[in-house]
Amino acid sequence: MAGVDRRVPIRRLLSEAAEGQPVVITGWVKTSRFGKNVSFVHLFDGSTPNTIQAVLPANFDAELQGQLGVGTALRVTGQWVASPGSEQALEVAVEDVQVVGAGNTPDYPLQKKRTTLEFLRTIAHLRPRSNTHQAVVRVRNSLSWQIHRFFQERGFLWIHTPVITGADAEGAGEVFPLSNAPEFFGRPAFLTVSGQLEVECFAQSHTDVYTFGPTFRAENSNTARHASEFWMIEPEIAFADLDDVVALAEDFVRTVAAAVLEQCSDDFAFFDRFIEKGVVEAVQKAIEKPFQRVTYHEAQAILEASGREFEFPVGVGAHLQAEHERFLAEEHFEGPVFVTDYPADQKAFYMRRNDDGETVAATDLLVPRIGEMLGGSQREERHDVLVQELKRRGMSDEHLWWYLDLRKFGTTPHGGFGLGFDRMLMWITGVQNIRDVIPFPRSPGSAEF
Ligand code: 4AD
Ligand code: MG
Repeated sequence: MAGVDRRVPIRRLLSEAAEGQPVVITGWVKTSRFGKNVSFVHLFDGSTPNTIQAVLPANFDAELQGQLGVGTALRVTGQWVASPGSEQALEVAVEDVQVVGAGNTPDYPLQKKRTTLEFLRTIAHLRPRSNTHQAVVRVRNSLSWQIHRFFQERGFLWIHTPVITGADAEGAGEVFPLSNAPEFFGRPAFLTVSGQLEVECFAQSHTDVYTFGPTFRAENSNTARHASEFWMIEPEIAFADLDDVVALAEDFVRTVAAAVLEQCSDDFAFFDRFIEKGVVEAVQKAIEKPFQRVTYHEAQAILEASGREFEFPVGVGAHLQAEHERFLAEEHFEGPVFVTDYPADQKAFYMRRNDDGETVAATDLLVPRIGEMLGGSQREERHDVLVQELKRRGMSDEHLWWYLDLRKFGTTPHGGFGLGFDRMLMWITGVQNIRDVIPFPRSPGSAEF
């Protein structure tokens, strides 16, 4: 391994270092225990869920020992040696300790080993050091990486769609406007709710593309699965219909979930033990078998026949609410299910009208515990039909002239989906509130950090 004077990440130390080797470790104190004969300090550095044990000999500088409390940043030099303790195979026999940053331990808010997730939200600047958020951050990173890997391996191009946009892609009006846009841009503009409309331009030039970035919604839904700022992954494919979109979505969810479970198996052991018992097996089972597929009409019939008392009405014409979505995925299908062909009036203006004249070629993927994790569709590629639909909805086409233009010049059947990145993270980790999987969550009334 690299030179002795260079710090080694704990992850590499545990996997690569040879017994007897000199090592330099940097990190923060998780726990410390001072005894008459020897003292123990456990350090973490974020590279792995594991801490390493640093053992200070009996004659170690007493004054220095007093400075090694929880939260302190240290640089430790010593030997990587066999550990007599049963908790670990190897440990660091300390020769030198440098206090890089004092811990001010009595005031440190992360004293207890485990505190509530609610409390941790009030200290979003320090919670990355808690066990739960240490793991969340690594899994979040892994999921991002595996998403890019999935698309890159299949030849999809990553398109950087704009964060500032003039198009309300979902037409729902739940946008954050930029207050200086009229003077600055000479027109209204806001933070994007979806990169879809822009990425469609690139599907019509590069065929297989995706956008992956932050999106913003000023919905006043203060629920455990809504955030005002969240990440969305949106592939878009040309020369494709709804079946192609569904097939891509299934391949995507299965491949990416399996890869993350494998890459972060240590972290998933933590989630399984402390956050949601059995979550790993549940996700593994869900991605082993083919996902189910039903139409909106079939789904409503299932809900009607269920004999369940729901808070919201069921039956054709009714919206699928979270309680219905969860019933379908958790209890009826016991796994992920695509619902397709929703009534046009329940969905966005760009979705392709089916031949029945009533429904659109849309799909939502519902999963246990979460409900809707992904929404997509085939897009309306027929210029006249799209113009008609905008009229019918009373929407102006003034700001969508370029979107309509795509339907004039070499239009193709095409489609895609948007997957809620943070919801997928909730699904695989078992974390129940979206505020606990986003580094600095934004929701109505909350943007402190
Ligand atoms: O269903 P939505 O609104 O679809 C779109 O935005 C399309 N333009 C996607 C596309 O076809 N390219 O959002 C997609 C997904 C939802 O299924 C959900 O998982 C997530 O984004 N989502 C949210 N996640 C967290 N907080 C919110 N407020 C969310 N709103 C949607
Ligand atoms: Mg949706």
